[in-house]
Amino acid sequence: MPSLRFGILGAGNIAGHHARAIQNTPNAELVAVASRTETTGRAFAAQHQTTWLADADALLARSDVDAVAICTPHDLHLPLAVAAARAGKHVLIEKPMALTVAECDAQIAACAHAGVTLGVVFQMRFDALSQQLKTWIDTGKLGRLLWTSATALWHRTDAYYRSGAWRGTLAHEGGGVLINQAIHTLDLLLWLTGMPTRVTAQTRTLNHAIEVEDGAMAILEYADNRLGSFQATVAAYPGYPERLEIIGTRGSAIYHRGQGRLEWHLADPREDGEAHAPISSGAANPMDIDIAGHIAQYQDFVAAVRAQRAPLIDGREGRKSVEIVEAIYRSARAHAPITLPFA
Ligand SMILES: NC(=O)c1ccc[n+]([C@@H]2O[C@H](COP(=O)([O-])OP(=O)(O)OC[C@H]3O[C@@H](n4cnc5c(N)ncnc54)[C@H](O)[C@@H]3O)[C@@H](O)[C@H]2O)c1
Repeated sequence: MPSLRFGILGAGNIAGHHARAIQNTPNAELVAVASRTETTGRAFAAQHQTTWLADADALLARSDVDAVAICTPHDLHLPLAVAAARAGKHVLIEKPMALTVAECDAQIAACAHAGVTLGVVFQMRFDALSQQLKTWIDTGKLGRLLWTSATALWHRTDAYYRSGAWRGTLAHEGGGVLINQAIHTLDLLLWLTGMPTRVTAQTRTLNHAIEVEDGAMAILEYADNRLGSFQATVAAYPGYPERLEIIGTRGSAIYHRGQGRLEWHLADPREDGEAHAPISSGAANPMDIDIAGHIAQYQDFVAAVRAQRAPLIDGREGRKSVEIVEAIYRSARAHAPITLPFA
């Protein structure tokens, strides 16, 4: 079977994970990387034995590229995904899928129209403990859900925000902790427990010289009478492991995701347990990201293209966290609850 030939757009922090994941995925091949900065691009290409191109259009024009990985600042996710789809390339986009739900819908429409596969990277869904908890919730082990919440008290330094001109800006990052760091934890909560129907939130810029939020707090209400919450900041020195709390009628599971620990306590019949898995968390260090999740994501993406099926995290799945992030921003601006889905 011929390999799926990838080009990577962007040669920054996360692009190296993509290069290594492609090289560790059977039937996948890295053909080229596009990055505007020549020194970075050439160094990346040398390190990963690939070809550097100065711009995305040149990469999209190549007939030996079947698929692209979008690893650029957030505001470029929409135009690059649409351009890639028009060029007939399959598209794998780093989180967040885009800045708004409207942009996600435009990406989904462009890929559907071109008949190319669209995937979004949320590698934490592939963690063994995430998968175990998902199965338990879906099969009713915890009973009917009553309360579902998540907290990510992370830390980012001022130097981190100075490390890229796009960071901390509304125009290029599209928001702060919510749309960048905490979107991983939010995506897990939504995937595991479903979408809320009402969001009431506040955001703040607490302790960084940035124009976007570094703290957010949201009350989540669900159609099944369930309550929940989501709290996230990058102002919590030194950065604490993120956790999710899932409370059901039969008992509860606390997923200390950032520690690789899942504990559960069921009432009748009584069952108490704890499971562990090696894990990394970006709580304190943005690059403390294990490669295993990206490899799992690439394996699924390549298999999906081959089988002409949707990947496990397709555009519809990638859009979910963007919808809640947008609802939180809208609620904070309006000082009012936001009803979902958007009209
Ligand atoms: N999944 C994860 O755990 C994870 C971790 C870090 C970052 N990310 C995501 O990856 C994306 C990139 O983040 P980063 O930290 O690597 O950013 P970065 O600033 O380190 O790198 C961005 C790269 O994009 C390049 N670029 C900018 N405009 C371009 C263009 N028009 N064409 C081609 N390249 C262009 C820059 O030159 C740079 O090489 C973001 O969406 C971010 O949220 C995901």
